[in-house]
Amino acid sequence: MANNIFRTKSIYELTEEANRKEHRLKKTLSAFNLTTLGVGAIIGAGIFVLSGQAAAQYAGPAIILSFIVSAVACVLAGFCYAEFASMIPISGSAYTYSYATLGEFLAWIMGWDLILEYLFAAAAVSVGWSGYLVSFLRDFHVNIPVEYTTALGTKLISLPEEGWKILTVDLENVLTGKGIDISLLPQTTAICNVPAMLIVALLTLLLVIGIRETSIFNNIMVVVKISIILIFIVAGFFFISKANWHPFIPENTGTFGKFGLSGILRAASIIFFAYIGFDAVSTTAQEAKNPQRDMPKGILGSLGIATAVYILFALVLTGIVSYTDLNVPDPVAVGVNQMGEKMFWLRYIIKIAAIAGLSSVILVMLLSQPRIFLAMASDGLLPRFFAKVHTRFRTPYVSTILTGIIAIMLAGIFPLSRLGELVNIGTLFAFTIICISVIVLRKTRPDIHRPFKAPWVPFIPLMGALICFAQMVVLAGETWLWFILWLALGVLVYFSYGMWHSKKRMSEK
Ligand code: ALA
Repeated sequence: MANNIFRTKSIYELTEEANRKEHRLKKTLSAFNLTTLGVGAIIGAGIFVLSGQAAAQYAGPAIILSFIVSAVACVLAGFCYAEFASMIPISGSAYTYSYATLGEFLAWIMGWDLILEYLFAAAAVSVGWSGYLVSFLRDFHVNIPVEYTTALGTKLISLPEEGWKILTVDLENVLTGKGIDISLLPQTTAICNVPAMLIVALLTLLLVIGIRETSIFNNIMVVVKISIILIFIVAGFFFISKANWHPFIPENTGTFGKFGLSGILRAASIIFFAYIGFDAVSTTAQEAKNPQRDMPKGILGSLGIATAVYILFALVLTGIVSYTDLNVPDPVAVGVNQMGEKMFWLRYIIKIAAIAGLSSVILVMLLSQPRIFLAMASDGLLPRFFAKVHTRFRTPYVSTILTGIIAIMLAGIFPLSRLGELVNIGTLFAFTIICISVIVLRKTRPDIHRPFKAPWVPFIPLMGALICFAQMVVLAGETWLWFILWLALGVLVYFSYGMWHSKKRMSEK
Protein backbone atom coordinates (compact mmCIF):
# COMPACT_ATOMS: atom_id res chain seq x y z
CA MET A 1 0.00 0.00 0.00
CA ALA A 2 2.89 2.35 0.85
CA ASN A 3 3.86 2.71 -2.80
CA ASN A 4 0.41 3.09 -4.29
CA ILE A 5 0.87 6.16 -6.47
CA PHE A 6 -2.87 6.34 -7.14
CA ARG A 7 -3.72 6.93 -3.48
CA THR A 8 -6.34 9.66 -3.10
CA LYS A 9 -6.66 12.21 -0.31
CA SER A 10 -10.01 12.68 1.32
CA ILE A 11 -11.51 16.15 1.27
CA TYR A 12 -11.26 16.17 5.06
CA GLU A 13 -7.51 15.50 4.90
CA LEU A 14 -6.98 18.15 2.23
CA THR A 15 -8.84 20.78 4.22
CA GLU A 16 -7.04 19.86 7.46
CA GLU A 17 -3.67 20.18 5.74
CA ALA A 18 -4.52 23.52 4.14
CA ASN A 19 -5.80 24.97 7.40
CA ARG A 20 -2.69 24.25 9.40
CA LYS A 21 -1.47 27.44 10.95
CA GLU A 22 1.81 27.66 9.06
CA HIS A 23 0.01 27.46 5.68
CA ARG A 24 -2.81 29.81 6.57
CA LEU A 25 -3.44 32.73 4.20
CA LYS A 26 -5.34 35.96 4.86
CA LYS A 27 -9.08 35.72 4.11
CA THR A 28 -10.11 39.03 2.56
CA LEU A 29 -11.68 38.37 -0.85
CA SER A 30 -15.39 38.99 -1.44
CA ALA A 31 -17.52 37.74 -4.35
CA PHE A 32 -16.89 41.08 -6.07
CA ASN A 33 -13.11 40.76 -5.61
CA LEU A 34 -13.20 37.22 -6.95
CA THR A 35 -15.12 38.30 -10.03
CA THR A 36 -12.73 41.17 -10.71
CA LEU A 37 -9.79 38.81 -10.19
CA GLY A 38 -11.34 36.57 -12.84
CA VAL A 39 -11.93 39.44 -15.26
CA GLY A 40 -8.43 40.67 -14.42
CA ALA A 41 -6.99 37.31 -15.42
CA ILE A 42 -9.12 36.75 -18.49
CA ILE A 43 -9.20 39.89 -20.64
CA GLY A 44 -5.74 40.55 -22.00
CA ALA A 45 -3.40 39.44 -24.77
CA GLY A 46 -6.14 37.26 -26.24
CA ILE A 47 -8.03 40.25 -27.58
CA PHE A 48 -5.36 42.94 -27.52
CA VAL A 49 -2.85 40.85 -29.50
CA LEU A 50 -4.11 37.48 -30.79
CA SER A 51 -7.67 38.24 -31.98
CA GLY A 52 -6.58 40.12 -35.11
CA GLN A 53 -3.99 37.55 -36.09
CA ALA A 54 -6.47 34.68 -35.71
CA ALA A 55 -9.04 36.55 -37.85
CA ALA A 56 -6.52 37.50 -40.54
CA GLN A 57 -4.90 34.09 -40.84
CA TYR A 58 -7.62 31.55 -40.06
CA ALA A 59 -11.24 32.62 -39.68
CA GLY A 60 -11.95 36.05 -41.20
CA PRO A 61 -15.07 37.74 -39.75
CA ALA A 62 -16.16 34.27 -38.59
CA ILE A 63 -13.72 34.81 -35.71
CA ILE A 64 -16.96 35.78 -33.95
CA LEU A 65 -17.98 32.10 -34.24
CA SER A 66 -14.53 31.03 -33.00
CA PHE A 67 -15.09 33.19 -29.91
CA ILE A 68 -18.43 31.45 -29.38
CA VAL A 69 -16.99 27.92 -29.82
CA SER A 70 -14.22 28.65 -27.32
CA ALA A 71 -16.68 30.23 -24.91
CA VAL A 72 -18.86 27.11 -24.97
CA ALA A 73 -15.86 24.92 -24.06
CA CYS A 74 -14.91 27.29 -21.25
CA VAL A 75 -18.42 27.65 -19.84
CA LEU A 76 -18.76 23.85 -19.68
CA ALA A 77 -15.38 23.56 -17.95
CA GLY A 78 -16.31 26.60 -15.82
CA PHE A 79 -19.32 24.72 -14.39
CA CYS A 80 -17.01 21.87 -13.41
CA TYR A 81 -14.49 24.22 -11.81
CA ALA A 82 -17.29 25.94 -9.92
CA GLU A 83 -18.54 22.61 -8.54
CA PHE A 84 -15.06 21.64 -7.34
CA ALA A 85 -14.14 25.07 -6.03
CA SER A 86 -17.25 25.24 -3.84
CA MET A 87 -16.79 21.64 -2.67
CA ILE A 88 -13.00 21.73 -2.03
CA PRO A 89 -12.15 25.39 -1.33
CA ILE A 90 -8.39 24.93 -1.23
CA SER A 91 -5.80 26.95 -3.13
CA GLY A 92 -4.41 24.06 -5.20
CA SER A 93 -7.31 24.28 -7.69
CA ALA A 94 -7.22 21.51 -10.33
CA TYR A 95 -4.23 19.89 -8.62
CA THR A 96 -6.16 19.45 -5.38
CA TYR A 97 -9.33 18.31 -7.14
CA SER A 98 -7.32 15.62 -8.92
CA TYR A 99 -5.77 14.49 -5.64
CA ALA A 100 -9.26 13.88 -4.30
CA THR A 101 -10.46 12.04 -7.39
CA LEU A 102 -7.78 10.54 -9.60
CA GLY A 103 -5.00 9.93 -7.10
CA GLU A 104 -1.59 11.33 -6.23
CA PHE A 105 0.29 10.59 -9.45
CA LEU A 106 -2.30 12.18 -11.74
CA ALA A 107 -2.64 15.07 -9.28
CA TRP A 108 1.09 15.63 -9.57
CA ILE A 109 0.84 15.56 -13.37
CA MET A 110 -1.97 18.09 -13.12
CA GLY A 111 0.07 20.35 -10.81
CA TRP A 112 3.04 20.08 -13.14
CA ASP A 113 0.77 20.84 -16.11
CA LEU A 114 -0.63 23.93 -14.38
CA ILE A 115 2.88 25.40 -14.37
CA LEU A 116 2.49 25.58 -18.15
CA GLU A 117 -0.74 27.46 -17.69
CA TYR A 118 0.07 30.01 -15.01
CA LEU A 119 3.81 30.51 -15.04
CA PHE A 120 4.12 30.41 -18.83
CA ALA A 121 1.04 32.60 -19.30
CA ALA A 122 2.53 35.24 -16.99
CA ALA A 123 5.65 35.26 -19.17
CA ALA A 124 3.70 35.19 -22.46
CA VAL A 125 1.44 38.08 -21.50
CA SER A 126 4.33 40.18 -20.23
CA VAL A 127 5.80 39.92 -23.74
CA GLY A 128 2.52 41.34 -25.12
CA TRP A 129 2.63 44.02 -22.40
CA SER A 130 6.12 45.00 -23.46
CA GLY A 131 4.96 45.41 -27.09
CA TYR A 132 2.21 47.84 -26.09
CA LEU A 133 4.44 49.77 -23.69
CA VAL A 134 7.16 50.23 -26.30
CA SER A 135 4.60 51.40 -28.84
CA PHE A 136 2.95 53.78 -26.31
CA LEU A 137 6.31 55.32 -25.36
CA ARG A 138 7.22 55.67 -29.01
CA ASP A 139 4.11 57.80 -29.54
CA PHE A 140 5.76 60.24 -27.12
CA HIS A 141 9.18 59.90 -28.81
CA VAL A 142 10.65 57.80 -26.00
CA ASN A 143 12.57 54.97 -27.66
CA ILE A 144 13.90 51.96 -25.80
CA PRO A 145 16.87 50.43 -27.69
CA VAL A 146 15.27 47.79 -29.89
CA GLU A 147 17.72 45.03 -28.89
CA TYR A 148 16.20 45.15 -25.41
CA THR A 149 12.55 44.87 -26.41
CA THR A 150 12.31 41.43 -28.02
CA ALA A 151 13.10 37.76 -27.42
CA LEU A 152 16.74 36.66 -27.44
CA GLY A 153 18.10 36.05 -30.92
CA THR A 154 15.20 37.69 -32.80
CA LYS A 155 16.43 39.24 -36.05
CA LEU A 156 15.26 42.84 -36.48
CA ILE A 157 15.31 45.18 -39.44
CA SER A 158 14.66 48.90 -39.72
CA LEU A 159 12.30 49.78 -42.58
CA PRO A 160 12.14 53.32 -43.95
CA GLU A 161 9.01 55.11 -42.57
CA GLU A 162 7.92 52.06 -40.54
CA GLY A 163 10.83 51.67 -38.12
CA TRP A 164 12.07 48.43 -36.56
CA LYS A 165 10.24 45.20 -37.46
CA ILE A 166 10.88 41.54 -36.75
CA LEU A 167 12.60 40.07 -39.81
CA THR A 168 10.50 36.98 -40.53
CA VAL A 169 10.90 34.82 -43.63
CA ASP A 170 7.57 36.24 -44.88
CA LEU A 171 8.77 39.82 -44.47
CA GLU A 172 12.06 38.98 -46.17
CA ASN A 173 10.14 37.54 -49.15
CA VAL A 174 7.88 40.60 -49.35
CA LEU A 175 10.85 42.98 -49.32
CA THR A 176 12.83 40.96 -51.84
CA GLY A 177 9.68 40.76 -54.01
CA LYS A 178 9.57 44.57 -54.00
CA GLY A 179 13.16 44.63 -55.21
CA ILE A 180 14.52 45.88 -51.86
CA ASP A 181 18.02 44.68 -50.98
CA ILE A 182 17.68 43.96 -47.26
CA SER A 183 21.43 43.93 -46.71
CA LEU A 184 21.36 47.70 -47.27
CA LEU A 185 18.92 48.26 -44.37
CA PRO A 186 20.03 48.50 -40.71
CA GLN A 187 19.69 45.15 -38.95
CA THR A 188 20.36 43.85 -35.46
CA THR A 189 19.72 40.86 -33.21
CA ALA A 190 17.74 41.19 -29.99
CA ILE A 191 19.32 40.41 -26.62
CA CYS A 192 16.34 40.22 -24.27
CA ASN A 193 12.98 41.77 -23.50
CA VAL A 194 13.71 44.18 -20.65
CA PRO A 195 10.22 45.76 -20.24
CA ALA A 196 8.68 42.27 -20.02
CA MET A 197 11.19 41.30 -17.34
CA LEU A 198 10.61 44.52 -15.40
CA ILE A 199 6.83 44.21 -15.24
CA VAL A 200 7.10 40.65 -13.90
CA ALA A 201 9.58 41.83 -11.26
CA LEU A 202 7.34 44.72 -10.14
CA LEU A 203 4.20 42.61 -9.92
CA THR A 204 6.04 39.88 -8.02
CA LEU A 205 6.98 42.49 -5.44
CA LEU A 206 3.35 43.57 -5.12
CA LEU A 207 2.28 39.97 -4.65
CA VAL A 208 4.74 39.43 -1.84
CA ILE A 209 3.47 42.51 -0.02
CA GLY A 210 -0.10 41.34 0.27
CA ILE A 211 -3.27 39.88 -1.18
CA ARG A 212 -5.31 42.98 -0.25
CA GLU A 213 -2.92 45.33 -2.00
CA THR A 214 -2.85 42.98 -4.99
CA SER A 215 -6.61 42.91 -5.15
CA ILE A 216 -6.89 46.73 -4.96
CA PHE A 217 -4.37 47.16 -7.79
CA ASN A 218 -6.20 44.51 -9.82
CA ASN A 219 -9.57 46.21 -9.30
CA ILE A 220 -8.19 49.52 -10.60
CA MET A 221 -6.66 47.86 -13.66
CA VAL A 222 -9.89 46.00 -14.40
CA VAL A 223 -11.99 49.17 -14.23
CA VAL A 224 -9.56 50.93 -16.59
CA LYS A 225 -9.50 48.15 -19.16
CA ILE A 226 -13.21 47.37 -19.14
CA SER A 227 -14.25 51.01 -19.46
CA ILE A 228 -11.89 51.64 -22.34
CA ILE A 229 -12.92 48.46 -24.16
CA LEU A 230 -16.56 49.50 -23.77
CA ILE A 231 -15.72 52.94 -25.20
CA PHE A 232 -14.08 51.18 -28.17
CA ILE A 233 -17.13 48.96 -28.69
CA VAL A 234 -19.64 51.82 -28.48
CA ALA A 235 -17.57 54.21 -30.63
CA GLY A 236 -16.70 51.48 -33.12
CA PHE A 237 -20.35 50.56 -33.53
CA PHE A 238 -20.85 53.78 -35.54
CA PHE A 239 -18.04 52.94 -37.95
CA ILE A 240 -19.15 49.43 -38.88
CA SER A 241 -19.29 48.81 -42.61
CA LYS A 242 -21.30 45.68 -43.35
CA ALA A 243 -19.11 45.06 -46.41
CA ASN A 244 -16.34 43.98 -44.04
CA TRP A 245 -18.48 41.03 -42.95
CA HIS A 246 -18.68 39.65 -46.50
CA PRO A 247 -17.75 36.90 -46.97
CA PHE A 248 -18.50 36.09 -43.36
CA ILE A 249 -16.77 32.70 -43.62
CA PRO A 250 -14.04 33.13 -46.25
CA GLU A 251 -13.60 30.06 -48.43
CA ASN A 252 -11.07 27.48 -47.30
CA THR A 253 -7.81 27.87 -49.23
CA GLY A 254 -7.34 24.13 -49.58
CA THR A 255 -5.22 23.85 -46.44
CA PHE A 256 -6.83 22.58 -43.21
CA GLY A 257 -7.36 25.47 -40.82
CA LYS A 258 -6.97 28.22 -43.40
CA PHE A 259 -10.50 29.70 -43.44
CA GLY A 260 -13.75 27.81 -43.94
CA LEU A 261 -15.08 25.63 -41.12
CA SER A 262 -11.70 24.21 -40.19
CA GLY A 263 -10.38 27.77 -39.99
CA ILE A 264 -13.06 28.62 -37.43
CA LEU A 265 -11.89 25.69 -35.29
CA ARG A 266 -8.22 26.54 -35.70
CA ALA A 267 -8.91 30.16 -34.72
CA ALA A 268 -10.98 28.91 -31.76
CA SER A 269 -8.02 26.92 -30.48
CA ILE A 270 -5.86 30.07 -30.60
CA ILE A 271 -8.51 32.40 -29.26
CA PHE A 272 -8.97 29.96 -26.38
CA PHE A 273 -6.03 31.82 -24.84
CA ALA A 274 -8.34 34.80 -24.43
CA TYR A 275 -10.56 32.88 -21.97
CA ILE A 276 -7.81 31.42 -19.81
CA GLY A 277 -7.90 32.83 -16.32
CA PHE A 278 -11.39 32.17 -14.95
CA ASP A 279 -9.98 29.05 -13.35
CA ALA A 280 -7.32 31.15 -11.64
CA VAL A 281 -10.06 32.38 -9.31
CA SER A 282 -10.17 28.92 -7.75
CA THR A 283 -6.54 29.18 -6.63
CA THR A 284 -7.50 31.93 -4.19
CA ALA A 285 -10.09 29.77 -2.42
CA GLN A 286 -8.20 29.96 0.88
CA GLU A 287 -8.20 33.74 0.73
CA ALA A 288 -11.94 34.05 0.04
CA LYS A 289 -14.19 35.09 2.92
CA ASN A 290 -16.90 32.64 1.94
CA PRO A 291 -15.45 30.35 -0.73
CA GLN A 292 -18.31 27.86 -0.85
CA ARG A 293 -20.80 30.56 -1.77
CA ASP A 294 -18.56 32.95 -3.70
CA MET A 295 -16.24 30.74 -5.78
CA PRO A 296 -18.94 29.80 -8.35
CA LYS A 297 -19.95 33.47 -8.56
CA GLY A 298 -16.36 34.55 -9.21
CA ILE A 299 -15.64 31.82 -11.76
CA LEU A 300 -18.87 31.91 -13.75
CA GLY A 301 -19.45 35.65 -13.32
CA SER A 302 -16.05 36.62 -14.72
CA LEU A 303 -16.40 34.14 -17.57
CA GLY A 304 -19.83 35.52 -18.46
CA ILE A 305 -18.59 39.12 -18.48
CA ALA A 306 -15.57 38.23 -20.63
CA THR A 307 -17.66 36.23 -23.11
CA ALA A 308 -20.10 39.10 -23.64
CA VAL A 309 -17.27 41.61 -24.07
CA TYR A 310 -15.41 39.36 -26.53
CA ILE A 311 -18.34 38.71 -28.81
CA LEU A 312 -19.25 42.41 -29.00
CA PHE A 313 -15.61 43.28 -29.47
CA ALA A 314 -15.16 40.78 -32.33
CA LEU A 315 -18.31 42.07 -34.05
CA VAL A 316 -17.06 45.65 -33.92
CA LEU A 317 -13.43 44.94 -34.85
CA THR A 318 -14.28 42.83 -37.91
CA GLY A 319 -17.00 45.32 -38.80
CA ILE A 320 -14.73 48.36 -38.92
CA VAL A 321 -11.61 46.80 -40.47
CA SER A 322 -11.24 44.23 -43.21
CA TYR A 323 -9.93 41.06 -41.57
CA THR A 324 -7.09 41.02 -44.09
CA ASP A 325 -5.58 44.08 -42.37
CA LEU A 326 -5.56 42.55 -38.92
CA ASN A 327 -2.39 40.46 -38.95
CA VAL A 328 -0.60 42.87 -36.62
CA PRO A 329 0.48 42.82 -32.96
CA ASP A 330 -1.93 45.67 -32.10
CA PRO A 331 -5.21 44.98 -33.94
CA VAL A 332 -7.22 47.28 -31.68
CA ALA A 333 -5.00 50.22 -32.60
CA VAL A 334 -5.60 49.38 -36.28
CA GLY A 335 -9.33 49.41 -35.56
CA VAL A 336 -9.08 52.86 -33.99
CA ASN A 337 -7.05 54.18 -36.95
CA GLN A 338 -9.88 53.10 -39.21
CA MET A 339 -12.26 55.39 -37.31
CA GLY A 340 -10.49 58.42 -38.79
CA GLU A 341 -8.66 61.53 -37.55
CA LYS A 342 -11.42 62.61 -35.21
CA MET A 343 -11.06 59.48 -33.13
CA PHE A 344 -7.26 59.61 -32.96
CA TRP A 345 -7.33 60.34 -29.22
CA LEU A 346 -8.75 56.85 -28.68
CA ARG A 347 -5.50 55.38 -30.03
CA TYR A 348 -3.56 56.44 -26.93
CA ILE A 349 -6.34 55.44 -24.60
CA ILE A 350 -6.58 51.99 -26.14
CA LYS A 351 -2.89 51.46 -25.50
CA ILE A 352 -3.42 52.45 -21.86
CA ALA A 353 -6.24 49.89 -21.70
CA ALA A 354 -3.94 47.24 -23.12
CA ILE A 355 -1.15 48.10 -20.70
CA ALA A 356 -3.56 48.03 -17.74
CA GLY A 357 -5.35 44.95 -19.00
CA LEU A 358 -2.23 42.94 -19.59
CA SER A 359 -0.80 43.97 -16.18
CA SER A 360 -3.78 42.49 -14.41
CA VAL A 361 -3.51 39.23 -16.37
CA ILE A 362 0.18 38.88 -15.47
CA LEU A 363 -0.66 39.73 -11.87
CA VAL A 364 -3.33 37.05 -11.45
CA MET A 365 -1.22 34.42 -13.22
CA LEU A 366 1.71 35.21 -10.92
CA LEU A 367 -0.72 35.05 -8.02
CA SER A 368 -2.05 31.63 -8.97
CA GLN A 369 1.16 29.73 -9.56
CA PRO A 370 2.61 30.04 -6.03
CA ARG A 371 -0.72 28.92 -4.54
CA ILE A 372 -0.51 25.70 -6.55
CA PHE A 373 3.09 25.24 -5.38
CA LEU A 374 1.91 25.91 -1.82
CA ALA A 375 -0.69 23.15 -2.06
CA MET A 376 1.77 20.70 -3.62
CA ALA A 377 4.39 21.42 -0.97
CA SER A 378 1.83 21.13 1.84
CA ASP A 379 1.20 17.59 0.56
CA GLY A 380 4.93 16.89 0.58
CA LEU A 381 5.22 16.54 -3.20
CA LEU A 382 7.49 19.59 -3.41
CA PRO A 383 10.13 20.68 -0.87
CA ARG A 384 8.75 22.36 2.26
CA PHE A 385 10.15 25.80 1.47
CA PHE A 386 7.63 26.15 -1.37
CA ALA A 387 4.93 26.28 1.29
CA LYS A 388 6.53 29.01 3.40
CA VAL A 389 4.06 31.77 4.26
CA HIS A 390 5.39 35.20 5.27
CA THR A 391 4.74 35.80 8.96
CA ARG A 392 3.68 39.42 8.48
CA PHE A 393 2.23 39.59 4.94
CA ARG A 394 0.61 36.11 5.11
CA THR A 395 1.54 35.46 1.46
CA PRO A 396 3.41 32.41 0.09
CA TYR A 397 6.45 34.60 -0.47
CA VAL A 398 9.11 31.98 -1.25
CA SER A 399 7.18 30.36 -4.08
CA THR A 400 6.00 33.81 -5.25
CA ILE A 401 9.59 34.99 -5.61
CA LEU A 402 10.65 31.73 -7.25
CA THR A 403 7.75 31.96 -9.71
CA GLY A 404 8.72 35.57 -10.41
CA ILE A 405 12.35 34.71 -11.13
CA ILE A 406 11.50 31.92 -13.57
CA ALA A 407 8.84 34.05 -15.28
CA ILE A 408 11.35 36.90 -15.62
CA MET A 409 13.77 34.59 -17.41
CA LEU A 410 11.11 33.15 -19.73
CA ALA A 411 9.71 36.61 -20.51
CA GLY A 412 13.18 37.90 -21.31
CA ILE A 413 14.13 35.19 -23.76
CA PHE A 414 11.08 33.69 -25.47
CA PRO A 415 8.56 35.12 -27.96
CA LEU A 416 4.83 35.25 -27.20
CA SER A 417 3.83 32.71 -29.85
CA ARG A 418 6.01 29.91 -28.47
CA LEU A 419 4.92 30.53 -24.86
CA GLY A 420 1.26 31.05 -25.80
CA GLU A 421 0.82 27.71 -27.56
CA LEU A 422 2.25 25.84 -24.60
CA VAL A 423 -0.13 27.70 -22.31
CA ASN A 424 -3.08 26.65 -24.48
CA ILE A 425 -2.24 22.98 -24.61
CA GLY A 426 -1.48 22.87 -20.87
CA THR A 427 -4.73 24.58 -19.96
CA LEU A 428 -6.87 22.51 -22.35
CA PHE A 429 -5.41 19.40 -20.77
CA ALA A 430 -6.27 20.66 -17.29
CA PHE A 431 -9.84 21.51 -18.34
CA THR A 432 -10.32 18.07 -19.92
CA ILE A 433 -9.21 16.31 -16.74
CA ILE A 434 -11.34 18.52 -14.51
CA CYS A 435 -14.44 17.78 -16.58
CA ILE A 436 -13.76 14.04 -16.31
CA SER A 437 -13.06 14.34 -12.57
CA VAL A 438 -16.51 15.80 -11.92
CA ILE A 439 -18.09 12.68 -13.38
CA VAL A 440 -15.72 10.40 -11.43
CA LEU A 441 -16.39 12.09 -8.09
CA ARG A 442 -20.16 12.17 -8.62
CA LYS A 443 -19.96 8.36 -9.00
CA THR A 444 -17.40 7.56 -6.30
CA ARG A 445 -18.48 10.11 -3.66
CA PRO A 446 -22.10 11.09 -4.27
CA ASP A 447 -22.41 11.83 -0.54
CA ILE A 448 -20.10 14.89 -0.40
CA HIS A 449 -21.84 18.22 0.14
CA ARG A 450 -21.73 20.21 -3.10
CA PRO A 451 -22.81 23.82 -2.47
CA PHE A 452 -22.76 24.31 -6.26
CA LYS A 453 -23.62 21.54 -8.70
CA ALA A 454 -22.74 21.55 -12.40
CA PRO A 455 -26.00 21.04 -14.31
CA TRP A 456 -26.78 18.00 -16.51
CA VAL A 457 -23.97 15.74 -15.35
CA PRO A 458 -22.56 13.73 -17.15
CA PHE A 459 -23.65 15.52 -20.37
CA ILE A 460 -22.06 18.93 -19.59
CA PRO A 461 -18.68 17.66 -18.33
CA LEU A 462 -18.52 15.09 -21.11
CA MET A 463 -19.12 17.75 -23.78
CA GLY A 464 -16.64 20.05 -22.02
CA ALA A 465 -13.96 17.33 -22.08
CA LEU A 466 -14.66 16.49 -25.72
CA ILE A 467 -14.53 20.08 -26.98
CA CYS A 468 -11.37 20.84 -24.99
CA PHE A 469 -9.71 17.69 -26.27
CA ALA A 470 -10.74 18.50 -29.85
CA GLN A 471 -9.12 21.92 -29.47
CA MET A 472 -5.93 20.22 -28.26
CA VAL A 473 -5.90 17.96 -31.31
CA VAL A 474 -5.80 20.87 -33.77
CA LEU A 475 -2.74 22.43 -32.12
CA ALA A 476 0.59 22.16 -33.95
CA GLY A 477 2.67 18.97 -33.77
CA GLU A 478 5.62 20.88 -32.35
CA THR A 479 3.48 22.14 -29.47
CA TRP A 480 2.51 18.53 -28.72
CA LEU A 481 6.14 17.52 -28.69
CA TRP A 482 7.08 20.21 -26.16
CA PHE A 483 4.03 19.32 -24.09
CA ILE A 484 4.94 15.62 -23.97
CA LEU A 485 8.55 16.46 -23.08
CA TRP A 486 7.32 18.72 -20.30
CA LEU A 487 5.08 15.99 -18.86
CA ALA A 488 7.91 13.45 -19.15
CA LEU A 489 10.12 15.76 -17.11
CA GLY A 490 7.32 16.00 -14.54
CA VAL A 491 7.09 12.20 -14.30
CA LEU A 492 10.84 12.08 -13.68
CA VAL A 493 10.63 14.67 -10.90
CA TYR A 494 7.73 12.81 -9.27
CA PHE A 495 9.54 9.49 -9.18
CA SER A 496 12.74 11.03 -7.93
CA TYR A 497 11.26 13.35 -5.29
CA GLY A 498 7.49 13.64 -4.85
CA MET A 499 6.66 9.98 -4.47
CA TRP A 500 9.20 9.53 -1.66
CA HIS A 501 8.22 12.62 0.29
CA SER A 502 4.45 12.39 -0.09
CA LYS A 503 2.83 13.02 3.30
CA LYS A 504 0.04 10.67 2.39
CA ARG A 505 2.57 7.91 1.72
CA MET A 506 4.31 8.59 5.06
CA SER A 507 1.02 8.44 6.92
CA GLU A 508 0.28 5.05 5.36
CA LYS A 509 3.62 3.54 6.40
N1 ALA B 1 -6.75 35.24 -21.01
C1 ALA B 1 -5.51 35.87 -20.81
C2 ALA B 1 -5.17 36.80 -21.92
O1 ALA B 1 -5.85 36.84 -22.90
C3 ALA B 1 -4.43 34.88 -20.56
O2 ALA B 1 -4.20 37.51 -21.80
